[in-house]
Amino acid sequence: MDSSPQTDTAAHYSLRARRFHWWSFGLVALAYLLINLVDLFERGTPLRRAVLQGHFLAGLVVLALVLPRLLNRLRNAPPPIVPPIASWEARLSGLTHFLLYACLLLQPILGLLTVWLGGRGIGIPFTAIQLPSPLTENHDLHEQLGSIHGWVGTVFYYVIGLHIAGALWHHAVRHDNTLRRIT
Ligand code: HEM
Ligand code: HEM
Repeated sequence: MDSSPQTDTAAHYSLRARRFHWWSFGLVALAYLLINLVDLFERGTPLRRAVLQGHFLAGLVVLALVLPRLLNRLRNAPPPIVPPIASWEARLSGLTHFLLYACLLLQPILGLLTVWLGGRGIGIPFTAIQLPSPLTENHDLHEQLGSIHGWVGTVFYYVIGLHIAGALWHHAVRHDNTLRRIT
């Protein structure tokens, strides 16, 4: 008889948790890709506007996913890592996950406030559809939040880098099930 149900079910994050993880990853990667491509397009052109709007929309979907994801996480403890990790490793990964969630929540909110305080709305690429800003324009705050958004964007890169390095270390060096649990 097969003894795999333990490994197949208990040893994996739930399907929902895995979907949240990989969709968020794809959307964050898309947000970064688009913002890095934006300067290839001349200011004022429809293509540049669409790339920027794509950045906004990818980030807003990240924001929409994070609260249901956190709720799902609070209701379902992750499966154990086998063989078990040391307490310093658990503390480091706990801190990294906290920072990842903080960035997933904070970064899109900062971006949205930056756009709104600049007096702009959120538009759908290649259409005239615009959701107008509900806030009064405030140039100084727009500038400040914009630079914090840029700064958090840099910190987020490093946190993601640390997280990916950790995942690969577990898989390739420590040979445990950490990465397999989320795939
Ligand atoms: C996961 C979500 C997001 C990430 C990782 C992210 C990351 C970034 C990064 C790295 C930059 C470049 C900053 C710089 O060059 O100094 C940027 C710029 C910007 N982002 Fe985001 N962002 C996200 C979501 C959003 C959202 C949801 C909005 C608005 C709804 C937004 C609005 C902006 C704006 C207005 C800029 C400045 C663009 C320009 O130079 O004209 N971002 N973002
Ligand atoms: C934008 C990029 C990414 C973000 C924001 C992100 C975010 C997260 C978060 C918040 C968790 C914690 C899940 C929980 O609550 O237990 C997590 C877990 C995990 N992620 Fe990522 N992730 C990203 C990319 C990746 C990539 C590319 C890999 C693989 C190379 C990966 C591998 C893992 C693994 C193995 C876990 C489980 C860790 C554990 O339970 O100790 N992640 N990720």
